[in-house]
Amino acid sequence: MVARVIPVEPFDLVVFGGTGDLARRKILPGLYRRFRDGQMPAEARVIGAARRAMETDSYRAFARDAIEEEVAPARRDPDSLGAFLDRLDHVAIDAEGDEGWAELAARMHPDRVRAFYFSVAPRLFGPLAERLHAHGVADAEARIVVEKPFGQDQASARQLNATLAAHFGESQIYRIDHYLGKETVQNLMAVRFANILFEPLWNAQFVDHVQITVAETVGVGGRGGYYDAAGAMRDMVQNHLMQLLCLIAMEPPHRFDPQAVRDEKLKVIRALDPVAPGDIVRGQYAAAGGMNGYLQDVADPDSRTESFVALKAHLSNWRWKGTPFYLRTGKRLRARSSEIAVTFREPPHSIFGEAERWAENVLIIRLQPNEGIKLRVMIKEPGPGGMRLVNVPLDMSFAEALGENGAEIPDAYERLIMDVIRGNQTLFMRGDEVEAAWAWIDPLIAAWEERGSSPQPYEAGSSGPEEAAILMHRDGRRWRGIEP
Ligand code: BG6
Repeated sequence: MVARVIPVEPFDLVVFGGTGDLARRKILPGLYRRFRDGQMPAEARVIGAARRAMETDSYRAFARDAIEEEVAPARRDPDSLGAFLDRLDHVAIDAEGDEGWAELAARMHPDRVRAFYFSVAPRLFGPLAERLHAHGVADAEARIVVEKPFGQDQASARQLNATLAAHFGESQIYRIDHYLGKETVQNLMAVRFANILFEPLWNAQFVDHVQITVAETVGVGGRGGYYDAAGAMRDMVQNHLMQLLCLIAMEPPHRFDPQAVRDEKLKVIRALDPVAPGDIVRGQYAAAGGMNGYLQDVADPDSRTESFVALKAHLSNWRWKGTPFYLRTGKRLRARSSEIAVTFREPPHSIFGEAERWAENVLIIRLQPNEGIKLRVMIKEPGPGGMRLVNVPLDMSFAEALGENGAEIPDAYERLIMDVIRGNQTLFMRGDEVEAAWAWIDPLIAAWEERGSSPQPYEAGSSGPEEAAILMHRDGRRWRGIEP
């Protein structure tokens, strides 16, 4: 199978925070891969904007280092790298002042898609939007791309939406949740809506429960300042895990288009019941196996911020009433492993007798690593010895299914940036969705704060606090193991 690459229109992409960590790790390497694959047209340009003045050549050297570090040798070559670097430019800009704006305006090409990536601290989102507008840098078709965190509660998200809306229409605002750009996440929609097989079973009558796990091995690293004020609930649950939940639980949109998909996701968020305090577990990693504990990582012995959350959510709608959704995410867990597991109910009657225990049918959608989809089914254990049943996986690893010539799985960011240029908002969050997600999260955080409760410690490198296991055991269920 040969990948089809359809080039996007010529564009000018300005990256505010052009020398920052995200630009270095994701944006520039991702754009290079799109360029090399022929998707980014030769006329397109990327302008790195940063506070500090820098020669264009120095910026190109910065980009070259970033690409050489992040892009596998097999996916780069000197010719295309040189040609890509020629597309890069740099301007020094003061996001909160007037310096540099006239120069940026003068550099923009007429008749090209203009996109502005806000890869900067959230307090600068408003000032950037305002100046882009005031200095005539953004035209009526221009797009802005806003990174998370999008507010830290509903009130601040609403305020931010209002600030952006003062200068840009909703159709111009691309709120990134990079989980929506992951290949398997989109495949989840293909599996659900391009096959007849699953949808008839996709409801509370046939689904016992759903588990969504996003486990990381990394700690908070150098992001302690941001993270300690956010915690896992704001950093991961409010956006990534809720988005996954939406895609699993939503009704079939009438078309795969931005409004239809986002309308359906919003309905899911609105149908979420408040979570009972006993249905949430917060954890914080403790030093183990030579790894620091959270408190050492953030250099605050009294921090009560959670680096782990497990919770049980219910949806009050016809499709899902009675089927719990268990969500779990954490840092410094035993493996990097993100997956969604849909566990189906047992068949109503065993013709094989009581001795043959049922194992469940489980559809496992594996986000990372080893992207793929697996369906666990019962078969007869091979060989003589009568009818004994055994649970085996029907396995579709994407790497295998697509073969050696299959498409490389693009990184979430590069795919989403191309969607921005194409003007396709399907995989971006709409303002009302973000506010609704906060409206569900806010009371949970407020309740912890009111109680002054501390998170449960768990050993770095473990599967999280014991209480998270108990959350499932109480219901006669268990978490799937966190496997690499
Ligand atoms: C980010 C969070 O949004 O997602 C990080 O802020 C987290 O804390 C990261 O590590 C995880 O993304 P990925 O793509 O590595 O699973």
